[in-house]
Amino acid sequence: MNTAQFAAIAAAVAVLAGCASMFAERSDLTAQAVTMMKTSFKEQGQAKLDRIDQDDVQRTCSQYHGDAAVPRDVAERIEKAEAARISYPADGKYLGDWKSGEKIAQAGVGMQYSDDPAQPSGGNCYACHELTQAEVSYGTIGPSLRNFGKVRGFTPEMQKYAYGKVFNSEAFFACSNMPRFGQKGILTEQQIKDVVALLMDPQSPVNR
Ligand code: HEC
Repeated sequence: MNTAQFAAIAAAVAVLAGCASMFAERSDLTAQAVTMMKTSFKEQGQAKLDRIDQDDVQRTCSQYHGDAAVPRDVAERIEKAEAARISYPADGKYLGDWKSGEKIAQAGVGMQYSDDPAQPSGGNCYACHELTQAEVSYGTIGPSLRNFGKVRGFTPEMQKYAYGKVFNSEAFFACSNMPRFGQKGILTEQQIKDVVALLMDPQSPVNR
């Protein structure tokens, strides 16, 4: 695709964007955009082209954005299906070590073409959440998790919720912007336990 063709498609997208009655043309343009990405992106290292393919949840959620709220029945269907895909630890223990949890929450590495796939990924939690008081640099896409355990209660049920939430955010909030860390193989079971400890251990700086 050359620049002129790209400009033509971009202009067409702009015209069609405000026009809800032209869904057929829009889906045609979506297909063209996907083809464009697939032909212009280059696979490198672990970053393969299949990353452009949306899974069922992403495809469904892409239909609702801006002011278009996800209908309740669609949200319930996603949450139920995703909840069934969570694998909880076989030993029934949800809390690991908050100190390594803090390192995982801080780490933004992993899964990029330049990262070594043999090294563990980070969770990058601070990119979206406030957690400890000491870390003053954090994003606000997600809610503050300061005093998470203290506020929500240090109960086994809340530990299990936190584990499931980090494993598969969509199980509790359909079309969430939070990555599905367990479901997508970003974090291991032990790493999820460690970030759950960061949230739920009474000794963790999140709760102090
Ligand atoms: C790209 C942004 C993003 C990243 C990265 C992210 N989150 Fe989230 N998170 C969100 C958003 C948005 C919400 C609110 C919507 C929802 O509940 O899914 C949320 C919600 C949560 C909740 C539920 C809060 C509640 O009140 O019940 C927990 C717990 C949580 N995140 C923990 C984490 C942890 C731990 C990490 C790192 C391993 C993390 N998040 C990484 C965006 C993110």
